[in-house]
Amino acid sequence: MDDAQLQELKQRAPGLAAIYRTGRDTILRAHDLATLEQARIQVLGRKSPLTEFLRAIPGLPADERPLVGKGGNLIRKELDALVEEREAELKREALSASLAHERIDVTLPGQSFPAGHEHLITQTMREVEDIFIGLGYSIAEGPEVELDYYNFTALNTPPSHPARSAHDTFWIVEQRETMPEAVLDADRGVLLRTHTSPVQVRVMERQKPPVYVLCLGKVYRRDSDATHTPMFHQVEGLVVDEGITLADLKGTVAHFARRFFGPDRTIRVRPHFFPFTEPSIEVDVDCGLCGGKGCRSCKHSGWLEIMGAGMVDPAVYDFVDYDPERVSGFAFGMGVERMAMLKHGIPDLRLFYENDVRFLRQF
Ligand code: DAH
Repeated sequence: MDDAQLQELKQRAPGLAAIYRTGRDTILRAHDLATLEQARIQVLGRKSPLTEFLRAIPGLPADERPLVGKGGNLIRKELDALVEEREAELKREALSASLAHERIDVTLPGQSFPAGHEHLITQTMREVEDIFIGLGYSIAEGPEVELDYYNFTALNTPPSHPARSAHDTFWIVEQRETMPEAVLDADRGVLLRTHTSPVQVRVMERQKPPVYVLCLGKVYRRDSDATHTPMFHQVEGLVVDEGITLADLKGTVAHFARRFFGPDRTIRVRPHFFPFTEPSIEVDVDCGLCGGKGCRSCKHSGWLEIMGAGMVDPAVYDFVDYDPERVSGFAFGMGVERMAMLKHGIPDLRLFYENDVRFLRQF
């Protein structure tokens, strides 16, 4: 409606002109879609002055009705159109506001996702593994839930053997309790393996010589203090071939010690006892901290014990049908936690399992 039309309406129907003006102002003042909807109800709704005005028309004198009726409907259309226009305008405004507001700055640095790394124990196992793979060994595995037979008996440690007492563990099925007649069958018990040595027997059952294997994994004992955890890791080596001697064992361990601890290290062997090796030895490496002169970490001896080892006892071959007249071999076993502690100067075993990232991050 232009000004001239409005002027005319004002003269002929002043009430309607006022309704129009107030309505238009209300609609134009709406500053967002919600207030516009309120304005629409106020101006054009069932209780609005306009609707009331139109409702009153039938009661007017007959000669006024056509003019007022026409004017009323015209104004309704005008105000309707105005609401639509304002709505489109407000939608455009809202869109450009949100585009401006939600703009992304693609030049900002990205969010960083901290990546973890392997635990020092895993790293140490990989390192040991690499050294022996370099010597042509393959990797063997065995179960952590093991039969008494493999953990003890077939390693020349029968049910009554005193060496068992040093390996107290977690029993899954202790046959001696569940089956009284099983004194003979005591080695059918099921336990968490106390060392990785049972894998030696499992490998020899499956495979004929030559054997060059390394087994790494978790073992369990009923111990818990500053130097013992109920679960820890071991590396087991087994070699069986023709003409293998103690010199081969020493050469292998010396090579390993130099690759693992550093090129200038030396080893020494001491006699020891294990039921499944004969002769048995323990191997020491010279203390890297004091250069062998003696310090607190080597208990002033200049040497650090790193493994148990020996020539495979012919009694073990009996369990796996190997011919000790034809083949001979050596085996060794070492603790992974201990190797990592010696190499990195870690004072307390429990640090490995407290999962304090300030400790773990250092390696
Ligand atoms: N299994 C032994 C232990 O846990 C360590 C060991 C000693 C392994 C001598 C061997 C070995 O293979 O020959 O105490």
